[in-house]
Amino acid sequence: MFNEVEEYLNIKPGFKIIDATLNGGGHSFGLLEKFPDIKILGIEWDPDIFQEAGSKIYNSGLTDKMVAVNDSYVNLKNIVEKNDFRPDGIIFDLGVSSLHYEKSGKGFSFMRDELLDMRFNPKVNSTTAANVVNSSSQEELIKVLTDYGEEKFAKEISEGVVLSRKINPITTTVELVECIKRSVPSWYLKRKIHPATKTFQALRIAVNNELENVERGVLAAIDVVNPGGRIIVISFHGLEDKVVREIFKEKTKEGILKRVVSGTIKPKWEEVKNNPRARSAKMKICEKI
Ligand SMILES: C[S@@+](CC[C@H](N)C(=O)[O-])C[C@H]1O[C@@H](n2cnc3c(N)ncnc32)[C@H](O)[C@@H]1O
Repeated sequence: MFNEVEEYLNIKPGFKIIDATLNGGGHSFGLLEKFPDIKILGIEWDPDIFQEAGSKIYNSGLTDKMVAVNDSYVNLKNIVEKNDFRPDGIIFDLGVSSLHYEKSGKGFSFMRDELLDMRFNPKVNSTTAANVVNSSSQEELIKVLTDYGEEKFAKEISEGVVLSRKINPITTTVELVECIKRSVPSWYLKRKIHPATKTFQALRIAVNNELENVERGVLAAIDVVNPGGRIIVISFHGLEDKVVREIFKEKTKEGILKRVVSGTIKPKWEEVKNNPRARSAKMKICEKI
């Protein structure tokens, strides 16, 4: 949703923008190309992806216009102070990226045979997806799959996991997928959506504490952005979107934010055609008063 990001950030000459989810820098590099006199601070939590983004900034000769920080956007306040970078706009493009699915080797994709890890930042997080799968009680697993995956077969899958791990711990994506397939009714295997989709989403959210992070990050963004500055959040599932909706609603009521557009902006048809993953994107925008 780059075109929408560019349009709604309402960029003026000399603006400072924080890209709170830098990844490969798609948004940041795109903005710098359109507005060469702005400055960008990018935050990326995953150390491998951060490394790649850092090299890209260095190689493109943009080090005077862009800095990157390997941290969580939860620490936005500290990052802003440490870098003396009070922003005029902040963008959050939440969740995982194709780099995670295709290159990380950390078990984000149920289409690959990898260890079940799913940590964005293994340096600060010691709990892997395999730990959650093998050490949680059945009740805890049901809660994770229900609360973070809205998985209707949470009970059956959790039962299957507990039975399976009695024989051998589940350590890889393939082992988990097989266990899910054995646990759900046969009609569930025949749908368009892969039967492991919701379980994998739930584990990723649990491992990285994603919903709490989004809440803390967006609240910090509201604190640090300059008056008149906009906060854009792109979320990819209803749970994240709900967190953002509630915060924006509350802060608008308190007179701290105002709506730029009411409700949600969805990607245009052409974008979804070129990038099917964009189909579930939802963008919300607010402005600090
Ligand atoms: C969907 S991607 C962003 C794509 C980016 N806008 C682009 O154009 O390339 C989300 C990124 O946020 C990162 N991320 C997830 N949680 C984070 C956190 N708490 N703090 C900072 N980055 C985070 C992920 O590692 C991932 O690289």
